[in-house]
Amino acid sequence: MTDLELMRLAEDARAYSYTPYSGFAVGAALLTKSGKVYTGCNIENASYTPTVCAERTAVFKAVSEGEKEFAAIAIIGGPAGEKGRFCAPCGVCRQVLREFCELDFRILLGSVDKVQAYTLGELLPTSFGPLDLKGE
Ligand code: THU
Repeated sequence: MTDLELMRLAEDARAYSYTPYSGFAVGAALLTKSGKVYTGCNIENASYTPTVCAERTAVFKAVSEGEKEFAAIAIIGGPAGEKGRFCAPCGVCRQVLREFCELDFRILLGSVDKVQAYTLGELLPTSFGPLDLKGE
């Protein structure tokens, strides 16, 4: 699976976004270390707070099926109906990724034409994770 292929899967997942309030559609494609891909889209709610981001949809789908080892995620967003573009993950999603991913986990942003690669450590420096609770 190349970075570009993963980004294309994220763009495909955007088609399922449910965004009647923001009109901002995001797609994510999460690659497991074993090579499987779990996709996700953002799903909004009339009560606003229950809205879930595309990244968390993908992570929760994967974890709920027993997957907890991840290599990379591709994220793409933008106004619904338009081609996706650079969309950085929100802080809550970065923290959810931190729960399951190492700091060298790759986060692919950009578009289907141009992918920019970051690591989780770069996007969430000096973070709090599972080992901190154990004093490690
Ligand atoms: N959104 C995501 O799905 N992922 C992000 O990381 C940024 C924000 C969604 C949430 C909401 O449905 C819409 O984009 C506008 O904030």
